[in-house]
Amino acid sequence: MKIRVFENQLEAKTAAAEQIADSLDGNSAKLVCATGGTMVEFYREFCRTNQDRAIDLRGVRFFNLDEYYGIEMDPALPEGKDQSFARYLSDNLFRPLGIDVDSQVRLVPHREDGLEQYRTELACSGGELITILGIGKNGHIAFNEPGTMIEDSIRVVNLSEGTIIDNYKANFEAFGYSFDEMPRKACTIGPREILSSNRIIVLCFGKTKKHAFEQAVFGTIDASCPASYLQTHENVEWYVDSALLR
Ligand code: F6R
Repeated sequence: MKIRVFENQLEAKTAAAEQIADSLDGNSAKLVCATGGTMVEFYREFCRTNQDRAIDLRGVRFFNLDEYYGIEMDPALPEGKDQSFARYLSDNLFRPLGIDVDSQVRLVPHREDGLEQYRTELACSGGELITILGIGKNGHIAFNEPGTMIEDSIRVVNLSEGTIIDNYKANFEAFGYSFDEMPRKACTIGPREILSSNRIIVLCFGKTKKHAFEQAVFGTIDASCPASYLQTHENVEWYVDSALLR
């Protein structure tokens, strides 16, 4: 495991974006993409780097890491009203980079065969598997909440109350949604798929993530902190800021 410490979030996100963009240039790869507040600026830096360096992403397939259950992307809705992670990736990554639909693999759990199709695509597409993660305050990675077992795979899960509240405050509230309208379920790839990646990049910043970071990196490997499972992988890079370590 490598821990790369930066003075601030922007420096860390820029370094991660440049590293990943360079490694994708002209290569076949599968890039599994997290969403969330942390990732917005990272994707901005990633798009900028790709444009500045004219990175060739034609061999890359992009996978949604997770998705709310029952929410389908609706391009007719204004930004913010459509809270699907598919829309988030479309707005922050695919449209700015001009990634065509055939190179995007979504998780559509409520459709028959939705999960099976995703599983097949993830297993069959060629190239290195690179997974980009954020981390929840309770140590979740993707939507693998505490209690997740290391062998758990792609599946529909119940979200913890803390995660529902965090996501409501961070995203839904400002767009006029009531707390009752919050999705209580999601679909997520599991530790099994995450740990099958060739390379895992985790972005983790600020003092609110300090406890989760410490548990994940130095704590016991167990279900109370699913991010601790990353200790079992030989190629994990953590990008953190100094505020996290203070
Ligand atoms: C989102 C995801 C989540 C977030 C985590 C951190 O696709 O998988 O695990 O990465 O909840 O979210 P932020 O960055 O909003 O703190």
